[in-house]
Amino acid sequence: MFLSNVTTSRRRRREDSRLADHVDRLGEEHPPIPLDSVDYTMKRPGLLAEKFGHVLDYMARVELEVERNVLELNILLPDPPEVDKHFYADVWMPQEIQHGLILDELQQQAGRAPTDANLSEVDFSLKLLGALGRMPGVQDISRMLYYLTGLATERSAVLAYNKLHAGLLELGEKAIARTVIAPIRRQEPGHFAYYQLAAQGLWGQMSGWQKWLTRALRKRTFEVVGAYNKRQVTDFGDVMKALRMSDGGEAELREYARQVGRAEYELMFAHRRGLRVPDYVFKSLRRAVELAAERKGETWPAAQPAGS
Ligand SMILES: [Fe+2]
Ligand SMILES: [Fe+2]
Repeated sequence: MFLSNVTTSRRRRREDSRLADHVDRLGEEHPPIPLDSVDYTMKRPGLLAEKFGHVLDYMARVELEVERNVLELNILLPDPPEVDKHFYADVWMPQEIQHGLILDELQQQAGRAPTDANLSEVDFSLKLLGALGRMPGVQDISRMLYYLTGLATERSAVLAYNKLHAGLLELGEKAIARTVIAPIRRQEPGHFAYYQLAAQGLWGQMSGWQKWLTRALRKRTFEVVGAYNKRQVTDFGDVMKALRMSDGGEAELREYARQVGRAEYELMFAHRRGLRVPDYVFKSLRRAVELAAERKGETWPAAQPAGS
């Protein structure tokens, strides 16, 4: 018993220092993108705004709202590990805010209004969860949910930036693709890796009831990235449409859900064989796409013409 405790605590120390090294490296290798490195030259700003203006707006808002996310984390995790605080306050937030500022400037230079980000209003239910977090064992669950949200968010961001990068090149907007989207996209995988290391470490330390409750809460609370109300879910559906992520019907959406949810699925449901698509991720994405179609008076997937 004693020996196994020693081995466990050694392994934990090794995992902790790997995580701390990763954060230090991220901070050193990826300082916030310098504003003077950005070239906002656009060939056809009007067309760009028409095709991708609302995509830029959505992403700028989500990136800027990390300022509020950090306030939420302070409530949700009253006593976080040092490495988490160092990551989100010193490395992650400055990088993401810069992404938001650059994207927002881009949409304004393309003739659009600035994004309307909620930087400070924290939802009441979060405050309640924060109070619950003082109970033994509950804060671990909140922390785990934070890592899982981070995994899905960062994955979604990379997938969206890939599509946006390709879409801008198709429009011939090379300067923006090269100096705005490519550098932003380069910073997201490091965030993903952080959440993955942190989630794996914590999952290994959780007890049975904590794992059970985490799975149950995750399934019930999963939402598409950056959406906190029905309008924002619908807006995300529009983003997916503009980035052509929903053209291929349910099959394509399932593949997208698999990519967004794979890391958390492998962690939490490794004991289930066969099922590789997290259904709760797929359902959220489908709801976003359906709501966006409905707002335009359409249905999704589009009905096939008779006889085809
Ligand atoms: Fe970002
Ligand atoms: Fe990120």
